[in-house]
Amino acid sequence: MAQLNVWNVDWYLDEATCPCDVHFLEYLDQEKIKDSTIFHFGTGGHHVVGLRTAENGSGNLVLGITASQPEQDAYEKLIIEKPAIGRSYKVLFGDIYLLEARLLPAFDVVTLFHTGEFRTEKNDAYGALTDEEVVRLLVGKLQGPRLLAFYSGSYAFDVADRIAKKLVAEGLLEPAGEFKTLRIYRKRKP
Ligand SMILES: C[S@@+](CC[C@H](N)C(=O)[O-])C[C@H]1O[C@@H](n2cnc3c(N)ncnc32)[C@H](O)[C@@H]1O
Repeated sequence: MAQLNVWNVDWYLDEATCPCDVHFLEYLDQEKIKDSTIFHFGTGGHHVVGLRTAENGSGNLVLGITASQPEQDAYEKLIIEKPAIGRSYKVLFGDIYLLEARLLPAFDVVTLFHTGEFRTEKNDAYGALTDEEVVRLLVGKLQGPRLLAFYSGSYAFDVADRIAKKLVAEGLLEPAGEFKTLRIYRKRKP
C-alpha cells in the first residue's frame, strides 16, 4: 500500500539559502496588502509567514500546508503556547498534491514557491494531482487582488515558469511584476 510522500525535515529559516518566505513578507508590506487571506505552500518549521503575519497588525490570515511531521509538531507547540496565533494562522498537514477544491475557501494571495520540488512517482502511487493541476486548482480559488507568487530561486523554478507561461498564454494569468526572488502573477478577470 502506497504511503503519503511525506517530507520529514524540520526546515529552519535560512535566508541565505531560501529567502522566499522573508521576501514574501517584505512584498506584503511593500504592497500594503492587509486583511487578506493567504494560502502558503511550505511553512517550514520556523513558520515565519504565519507567525509574523499574526503579530504585525496587518490583519492578514494564513493557511499554510506542510508535509513534514516535525513542522506540524512545531505548529502545534506554537499555538499551544501562543493560542492567539492560531486564530489567524492555520496549518494543514498533508500533501499539496491531494488538495480538494471543494474543501478550500477563496484566497486573495497564493504562494506556490516549491512547485515542482517534491512531486515524484511516490505521489503517482496514490493518484495525486500534478504540479499544473495544483496551480490550476489554486488559481481557481483566487479572489480580490487575485495574486499568485512563485519563487525564482527554487531549483525547480523551470516547472513553475513553464506552467505560468502556459496559463498566461491561455489568458488565465497575467504577469504582475517581480519582487526580489518572487515572480508575481494576477488571475485575469473572466
Ligand atoms: C525547503 S522547505 C521551505 C520552507 C519555507 N517555505 C522556507 O522557504 O523556508 C519546503 C517546505 O515544503 C513543504 N512540503 C514538501 N512537500 C510537500 C507536499 N507534498 N505538500 C505540502 N507541503 C510540502 C515542507 O513541509 C516544507 O515546509
